[in-house]
Amino acid sequence: MRGAVSIWINMMDQRVPRASGLEDVVAALTRLSDVDGEAGRLVIAGYPVESLSGNIRFEEAVFLLRCGRLPTPAEHGEVRAELGRARASASFAPVSLADPMDALRARMAQTEGDDVYGILGAMAVAAAGSTEKPNPNASHAEDYLRLATGRTPSAEQVAALDAYLVAVIDHGMNASTFTARVVASTASDMTSAVVAAIGALKGKLHGGAPGPVLDMLDAIGDAQHAHDWIAASLARGERIMGMGHRIYRTRDPRAFVLERAVGRMAATDRLALARAVEREAEAQLAAKHPDRPLKCNVEFYTAILLEAVGLPRALFTPTFAISRAAGWCAHVEEQRATGKLIRPRSTYVGELAP
Ligand code: COA
Repeated sequence: MRGAVSIWINMMDQRVPRASGLEDVVAALTRLSDVDGEAGRLVIAGYPVESLSGNIRFEEAVFLLRCGRLPTPAEHGEVRAELGRARASASFAPVSLADPMDALRARMAQTEGDDVYGILGAMAVAAAGSTEKPNPNASHAEDYLRLATGRTPSAEQVAALDAYLVAVIDHGMNASTFTARVVASTASDMTSAVVAAIGALKGKLHGGAPGPVLDMLDAIGDAQHAHDWIAASLARGERIMGMGHRIYRTRDPRAFVLERAVGRMAATDRLALARAVEREAEAQLAAKHPDRPLKCNVEFYTAILLEAVGLPRALFTPTFAISRAAGWCAHVEEQRATGKLIRPRSTYVGELAP
């Protein structure tokens, strides 16, 4: 059996085009976000991420994706009220899955329909996995943080989480967004698209936890150990977590806004250590790979920010999901407008039976 599998893999190697990961294939026209990896620029519905994250609330970013413009204060209030009502009315039968992403998927699978605010409200409650009652009058970030941590968050923690939720709300044709669009293209419902996208986001190559970044910082412990720790790690052929990106050849623009958001909180030793480790990693990676820029990606300061707002590591990916779900829903609406089924082809590499 093992022999048969390796023959098949060899055949795949020879006959499947190198672009089998669909690199450089344009799968949709979108007005939702634009990722420019060479320039290191991320535009969300017409605005550079730097001008949105830290300056608007999650509710306003949801409106922006849906309507293509920023809301008036009254419209902002309406979105906040809609999300509050949706959180308050979300309820789930108990699930006994230990992994928080499995639990999020199982809870959302108990819901149905096409109501964007209903889905986003349910996502926050499902991700937090709390038995506390949601507060419909709180902002989405504040209520999620309270449900997820069991503590009333400070204003600066809420502001930092809002900055994060806005920064990661959409990012081109990433794997979970593509998944949502494929499901939407079959004329299925929005909830099904979101549940499928949660499954894609769970994989460690996509939403993969920024937890390893914190593990690395824990292991380094002090900035004066950063040089030797990174040199030893690279000598063992390991990858430095939170560095490098498939698309960006510059520092990830989201790293700037997340670092800025953490910097607006009370100064922490963690942030100082992170900056020192980033500097050291970037310098050593540049020396090792002079032709391949390997710089800080979104995961690096995501880890620092989500830790600073008091979230446990296990909830990092579910927290990513509650924001990105707004992007998924907007992409579902865009995909539906095309009325086109996404249906690529494959190349048969099997034998014909005699
Ligand atoms: N640390 C050390 N070396 C790295 C590296 C890192 N973080 N990222 C890439 N490299 C090296 C690779 O070893 C490879 O070297 P080689 O040519 O000598 O074999 C070279 O850079 C190119 O890497 P490649 O795997 O082709 O790049 P990619 O575009 O497929 O990978 C990532 C992108 C994000 C998967 C990769 O940079 C990585 O693994 N980063 C660490 C994990 C991480 O932070 N993930 C979150 C991403 S948002």
